[in-house]
Amino acid sequence: MIPISAAFFALAALKVAVCLDNGLARTPPMGWMHWQRFRCLVDCDIYPDECISEKLFRAMADHMVSDGYLAAGYEYVMIDDCWADKERDAKGRLQPDPDRFPSGIKNLSDYIHGKGLKFGMYADYGLRTCAGYPGSLLYLERDADTFAEWEVDYLKFDGCYSDWQFIDKGYIQMGKYLNATGRPIVYSCSWPAYQEPNGMQSNYTSLAETCNLWRNWDDIDDGWNNVTEILDWFSSNQDRLAPFSAPGHWNDPDMLIIGNYGLSLEQSKAQMAIWSIMAAPLIMSVDLRTIRPEFRDILLNRDVIAVNQDPLGVMGKLILKRKNIDIWTKPLSDTADGRSRVAIGLMSHRVDGYPYRIGFTLGELNITSPRGFNLKDLFDENLKHPVYSDSEKIYVRVKPTGGTLLVATSLK
Ligand SMILES: *[C@@H]1O[C@H](CO)[C@@H](O)[C@H](O)[C@H]1NC(C)=O
Ligand SMILES: *[C@@H]1O[C@H](CO)[C@@H](O)[C@H](O)[C@H]1NC(C)=O
Ligand SMILES: *[C@@H]1O[C@H](CO)[C@@H](O)[C@H](O)[C@H]1NC(C)=O
Ligand SMILES: *[C@@H]1O[C@H](CO)[C@@H](O)[C@H](O)[C@H]1NC(C)=O
Ligand SMILES: *[C@@H]1O[C@H](CO)[C@@H](O)[C@H](O)[C@H]1NC(C)=O
Repeated sequence: MIPISAAFFALAALKVAVCLDNGLARTPPMGWMHWQRFRCLVDCDIYPDECISEKLFRAMADHMVSDGYLAAGYEYVMIDDCWADKERDAKGRLQPDPDRFPSGIKNLSDYIHGKGLKFGMYADYGLRTCAGYPGSLLYLERDADTFAEWEVDYLKFDGCYSDWQFIDKGYIQMGKYLNATGRPIVYSCSWPAYQEPNGMQSNYTSLAETCNLWRNWDDIDDGWNNVTEILDWFSSNQDRLAPFSAPGHWNDPDMLIIGNYGLSLEQSKAQMAIWSIMAAPLIMSVDLRTIRPEFRDILLNRDVIAVNQDPLGVMGKLILKRKNIDIWTKPLSDTADGRSRVAIGLMSHRVDGYPYRIGFTLGELNITSPRGFNLKDLFDENLKHPVYSDSEKIYVRVKPTGGTLLVATSLK
């Protein structure tokens, strides 16, 4: 038995009564969202295939199904900022830009649902959205009702143009209005992303009572430095954040940037590995029409996704830093025949050009079992690992600025 998971169960029993209970996001949400790749591209004359329009979301929905993403678990197709008209309608309701969404949002929602997918949308608690579209500040109830009418399944609620020190109350109120619609809607809150970077520690008890997931830190851009900076922040704060990760509510380090311009193949494996170790939502933001197959394979790696989606929902932690390589661990649920399992993620900051051979023991990672462990590399099934005792040295080769994910399964 691994001590960490025993501690987790004790903690879960204490927490369960007070957390948001809308029955949703029992494992980290998986899907696709437009922001990181497509931003606020609204000029459809110059960029007809890339602009934020119903055409783009229909195309992504098609690929989600035909290219195996839905089958792998990615179920939400989500609109981020820049979908709305600059003005509300005569009744004060949000409305989409008429040129870019001529069939209306309900029509797009129907299209996405017709494919067996779920539909996500974006709004902002403040006076305006980050890109300057109408905010929800004076319209919380009306906007919640509009989203329910459109059969939205997931709402990303941003926090631009609001008072970040007192932002919590508005999100709590919006959560009540969403609940009152009677439609189960995954509620993604951005309030810590406005507090933590300003040096204020957010109230995670309140977040877990209110939201299914929350963006803790700044937006990701398309670069390896963003992956490492985000992980530095999460690992530095892991003892504060990890207790609030569990079925129904998740810390969100932001979107996967795999398949875009900024990450190499090995860096992409590292992001996928560590996001999975952290039980982070797996929200792709890439052009699914043109993604190269080797990047798609990383996003579709079933074994890695299973680590992310493990029913215990524990947020893994950075346990050991050695030779400029980070080693993270995450307790997983037991196998059907009662063997304990732990995921081990390795991420290298090294740039010395060859796959560095890092040595460690399971004991050093606080992973113990009287009969030893079997080890499997989830990115390289050819890598054969013998059985290890707690004190035996394990050597893994980690590529420069790359990473991998192992699972240790105890022997009976
Ligand atoms: C959505 O709008 C298109 C035309 O833009 C129409 O062909 C289609 O029938 C509509 N779908 C639904 C479900 O209303
Ligand atoms: C509303 O909140 C109650 C109490 O937590 C919960 O049982 C119910 O499932 C929620 N409904 C929706 C639609 O979120
Ligand atoms: C955090 O929120 C919880 C639950 O809403 C509340 O009981 C507690 O007082 C808050 N903590 C602080 C420091 O405000
Ligand atoms: C992402 O990288 C850019 C460019 O270096 C930087 O300005 C931004 O702060 C980074 N964001 C995060 C979350 O690390
Ligand atoms: C391993 O467990 C021991 C004993 O519980 C603890 O003192 C130590 O900090 C842990 N090490 C890590 C890296 O978590």
